[in-house]
Amino acid sequence: MSIRILVLHGPNLNMLGLREPDIYGTTTLADVNDRIAALAQELGVEVDTFQSNHEGQLVDKIQAARGQYAALIINAGAYTHTSVALLDAILSAELPTIEVHLSNLYKREPFRHHSYIASAAVGQICGFGADSYLLGLRAAVALAQS
Ligand code: DQA
Repeated sequence: MSIRILVLHGPNLNMLGLREPDIYGTTTLADVNDRIAALAQELGVEVDTFQSNHEGQLVDKIQAARGQYAALIINAGAYTHTSVALLDAILSAELPTIEVHLSNLYKREPFRHHSYIASAAVGQICGFGADSYLLGLRAAVALAQS
């Protein structure tokens, strides 16, 4: 059975390409997902992607992922900095989790320096634009194979 990995995109990431291009670039979410799918094919793994602007929908997806996926890659957007609910969902899902961000959080406003989900993640990748997801996918596959 092939390795299955879930990629979650949080709030406002559907606006990629239009949203603050000086920070997030002009790549759209569809482009990001296409690049993820191409790398997944190259690595021989299955990837599902899902975006929501709603915290509860992300919690539902993480809960449903328990036992179904080998790893979780999540860019929780602004919920990164606010959501104990996402932290608890990740803890209860018991999936190796990789936190990713397009921008380098530590070069930005101080409120972005704290991540509620970082303590539940194996690691965090930020600052590489869409490549953060691809690096995250390589890390997820390595974890799943270890
Ligand atoms: C982000 C960083 C967050 O601080 C911000 O709220 C986002 C995007 C990133 O990918 O760089 O929505 O997660």
